[in-house]
Amino acid sequence: MSDIDAPQVVDRNLALELVRVTEAAALAAARWVGKGDKNAADGAAVEAMRRAFDTVGIEGTVVIGEGEMDEAPMLYIGEKVGLFARTGGGVQADIAVDPLEGTSLTAKAGPNAMAVLALAGKGGFLHAPDVYMDKIAVGPALPEGVVDLDLKPGENLRRLAEAKGVPVSQLTVCTLDRERHKDIIRACREAGARLMLIPDGDVFGVVAVSQPEAGVDMYLGWGGAPEGVLAAAALRCIGGQMQGRLIYEDDSQRERARAMGLADPDAKFGLEEMARGEVMFAATGVTSGPMLRGVRYVPGGAITHSIVMRSKTGTVRYVEGHHNFAVKPTP
Ligand code: FBP
Repeated sequence: MSDIDAPQVVDRNLALELVRVTEAAALAAARWVGKGDKNAADGAAVEAMRRAFDTVGIEGTVVIGEGEMDEAPMLYIGEKVGLFARTGGGVQADIAVDPLEGTSLTAKAGPNAMAVLALAGKGGFLHAPDVYMDKIAVGPALPEGVVDLDLKPGENLRRLAEAKGVPVSQLTVCTLDRERHKDIIRACREAGARLMLIPDGDVFGVVAVSQPEAGVDMYLGWGGAPEGVLAAAALRCIGGQMQGRLIYEDDSQRERARAMGLADPDAKFGLEEMARGEVMFAATGVTSGPMLRGVRYVPGGAITHSIVMRSKTGTVRYVEGHHNFAVKPTP
């Protein structure tokens, strides 16, 4: 699809409105940091995000959300959100949300939990079911195709090292600390690379490849497909390369992917196939990490830290929100 055909959102910076939505979700979830109840944290984030969407001047359709309508009371796939959800007439947009990325991280006060959303024109996001996605990502300013999902980790590391002009021993690979990644971990160690093993939160893991201060050169491994689409949206804005392939436990999952509109459910998807056209991305930290600071409570209020960006201009903004609970009570 050419750029002209790619879905567009009207030329207006909705991104700054979106950050209010992730702020609301993060503020609600932050009440549950370290409380050991991931479902309560998630529920609070979902409800706050849903309410905050009512103020955004769009007619949005959730395409990556909390599940199907019968699985999720709010932010389900197909739900209309935004100020014009009921009346119509607003800017039409597809929405991808993860109101609390890192539910367990929040429950255990671990790093990198965040509220995340992305927005694209109609048809802009891959309609990924809630299955795993095999992912590979590297940062910007590298030759196109320098790494490939179908190559072995050692070969990808060799190619990346050559492109960066450094030895493999200076490269850091990030992956989720999971038994299923034992082969990836072994191969990276054998190649001599460093490994950053994260307990959860691979939206951070992927986006980290484009954030020099995070110290990640390549992301590898299986994580959630919805998280993959959200991370792809972020890389479309900030730069970087990514490929993903959906992983199915059985044929019924593959059929579900087909029913959601994927002509070839086993295809290897590139960045543009996961997040096409004009895309915006916003995230607010719930707990702190290299990308975002978590919610900090201060007398009478709280401080949030968000990143907001859009593909059209490539502008990345960090927003520090000072919230006064005396004027606007916490969600
Ligand atoms: P939740 O916030 O839904 O708990 O997801 C956390 C997460 O670590 C994601 O970042 C990641 O994509 C997925 O879970 C990995 O799934 P699993 O825990 O099954 O390995």
